[in-house]
Amino acid sequence: MRTQVCIIGAGPSGLLLSQLLHRKGIESVVLERKTKDYVLGRIRAGVLEHGFAELMREAGVGDRMDREGYIHDGTVIAYDNHQFRVDFAARANASVIVYGQTELTRDLYAAREAADGKIIYNVDDVRIQDADGDAPYVEFNVGGQGQRIDCDYVVGCDGFHGVSRKTIPETVRKEYEKIYPFGWLGVLSETPPVHDELIYSNSQRGFALCSMRNENLSRYYVQCPLDHKPEDWSDDAFWEELKRRIPEETAEKLITGPSIEKSIAPLRSFVTEPMRWGKLFLCGDAAHIVPPTGAKGLNTAASDIYYLYHAMVQFYVDGEEEGLDRYSEKALARIWKAERFSWWMSNMLHLYPEQSAFDRKMQRAELEFLERNESAQKVMAENYVGLPF
Ligand code: FAD
Ligand code: PHB
Repeated sequence: MRTQVCIIGAGPSGLLLSQLLHRKGIESVVLERKTKDYVLGRIRAGVLEHGFAELMREAGVGDRMDREGYIHDGTVIAYDNHQFRVDFAARANASVIVYGQTELTRDLYAAREAADGKIIYNVDDVRIQDADGDAPYVEFNVGGQGQRIDCDYVVGCDGFHGVSRKTIPETVRKEYEKIYPFGWLGVLSETPPVHDELIYSNSQRGFALCSMRNENLSRYYVQCPLDHKPEDWSDDAFWEELKRRIPEETAEKLITGPSIEKSIAPLRSFVTEPMRWGKLFLCGDAAHIVPPTGAKGLNTAASDIYYLYHAMVQFYVDGEEEGLDRYSEKALARIWKAERFSWWMSNMLHLYPEQSAFDRKMQRAELEFLERNESAQKVMAENYVGLPF
C-alpha cells in the first residue's frame, strides 16, 4: 500500500490531522491498535480552547460542537470554604467550550467515514522503518497478516505508550519528566452539574474538581493516592469525599447518583525533544503529557496538529519545506508554556504528601494573590483560554 502520510493512532490527534489533510486533497492512512468502540469508551478531556474549536470548524466538524457544546466565560477557584471567579471574557476577551473528547472523537470518526477515509483497526506490532531516510515505510500486522505502507511522512499520534516516540534513537531524543505523588479519581454521573461553571478546589483534604459534559452529565474528580484503585472507592465514599473538599454552600447543592464511569489517572508532566526525526513527526500525547489541572492535554495536541497541518499544506501545495523544518521548534515553544501553566495550576491546588507548613502558606498566598489581583487573573485567563497558535 502507498499513501502520502501514514498516521499512527486514531485518537483525536490522528483523526483531526487526517481530516484536515483530506480537505486539502492530501491522502493519509490511519493505523489504530484498538477498535473504534474502545477509543470512544475512554472518558477523558472536556474543555476546548477557542483556537481548538476554530480548528474543528476548519476541519468541517464543528457543527455539533457549536450546537451542543457549552461556552464558558469563566471558572471558579475555591479554597478554605470560599470561592472566587476568574472571568475569561473580561480578562482575556475569549472563552472555552465544554465538549467532551468522546463527542469530538465521534464527530471526527463520522467525518472520516463519510469521506471514505482509510482507518485500519486492530493493528499490532507497528514498526516505523527508514524514518531518517528518503523512503520511509511502516510495517504492521493485522488479523495475523504482515502489511506494509510506503509513504512520504509518518506522523506519530499514538499517545504516551505508542511506538513512534521510541523510534527516535536515544542519542537524538531528550526527555523531561515530572511525576506527581498523587492521581485523580474521576466519576461520570447522569446528574445535573453542581454549578454552571467548573470549580477547581484546593482543600485541606486535597484537590477536587467539579466539571460537566451537559446539563444532565457531570464529571467530578478528587485527588487520591497513587496506589488507590477505582474499586476501592464506592460511589458513596466518592460523593462524601467530594462534598468535604468543596465549599459547604456548593456541597449542599450537589446532586449525587450512581457513577457510570470511574477511573484513576496518574499525573505527569513530560516533554520529548525534538518532535521531528527525519520523516517522522510526533503530535499530542506521543510527545508530551501535562497534568489535567489546566485542561491542556487535548488542547496541546490540537496546537501540534495546527502547526503540522499548515506545514504539510505548505509542502504539498507550495512545495515549501520551511514549515516542516520549523515544526518541532514551533510546537515545542507553545508546549512548554502549556506545561508551565499546568504545573503552576497543579502546584497551587493540590495537597502534596511532603508539603511543609511553609509550602502550604505559599499556596495560600498564591490563591489570595490570584483572587485579589487583576493582572494575575489576566495571566491565568489568557493561559486557560489558550495562548495564540
Ligand atoms: P490518545 O488519545 O492517547 O490517542 C492515541 C491513539 O493511538 C489511541 O487510540 C491508541 O489506542 C493508539 N495507539 C497507541 N499505540 C499504538 C500503536 N502502537 N499502533 C497504533 N495505534 C496505537 N486531558 C484533559 O485535558 N483533561 C482530562 O481530564 C484528561 N484526562 C485524561 C485521562 C487519561 C486516563 C489520559 C490517558 C489522558 C487524559 N487527558 C486529559 C489527556 C487527553 O485525553 C490527551 O491529551 C488526548 O487524548 C491526546 O490525544 P492523542 O490523540 O494525542 O492521544
Ligand atoms: C473534565 O471535564 O474532564 C476536565 C475539565 C477540566 C480539567 C480537567 C478535566 O482541568
